[in-house]
Amino acid sequence: MSIVKEVKKFVKEKCQKPTSKYGFEPFECHFKPMVRWAKRLSNELGGDQEVILVAAWLHDIGSIVDGRENHHLTGVKIARKKLVELDYPENKIRLVEKCILNHRGSQNNKRESLEEKIVAEADVISNFDEIEGIFWYSFVHENKNQKEARKEVFDKLERKWKQLHFASSKKLLKPKIKAVRVLFGKNQSHR
Ligand SMILES: [Fe+2]
Repeated sequence: MSIVKEVKKFVKEKCQKPTSKYGFEPFECHFKPMVRWAKRLSNELGGDQEVILVAAWLHDIGSIVDGRENHHLTGVKIARKKLVELDYPENKIRLVEKCILNHRGSQNNKRESLEEKIVAEADVISNFDEIEGIFWYSFVHENKNQKEARKEVFDKLERKWKQLHFASSKKLLKPKIKAVRVLFGKNQSHR
């Protein structure tokens, strides 16, 4: 089995476990679309595609196993352990670790390699495909009410829009951010 398939299987198993912090849904609704974007970006922009896909599958593993807080740090540890077990080369493990460590919006300025930038970008783009996932997290995991969840969705997507790095993704998402502003912007609310 290829390393990418091995890692996908590992992530799927962690999501299926009863101890998964957010159940199985993130596998279908976040991991899969996020990896598809990572592949598309790496086809377009280059980078080590194997490293990018391995890191894309593993980027939120810390969140599944230990919860969202500090999941970039917990994820690095889980990823290294698994990749060593799979005999993945040390130089590639280091790059995967950097991709996971720096994938969050708060780490925007720390990314050096194309691989790190692509993984972070795929994560940002996939948010625009999963607006229901942002609502789900707000309602189910943060106990927010409808008004708060609506604001959360709008603020998050505006924030994500500003985090886009590549011109091609900005062009691609322009109609989506416009639609978000129409649907969720302040002027659209009668409240
Ligand atoms: Fe993610």
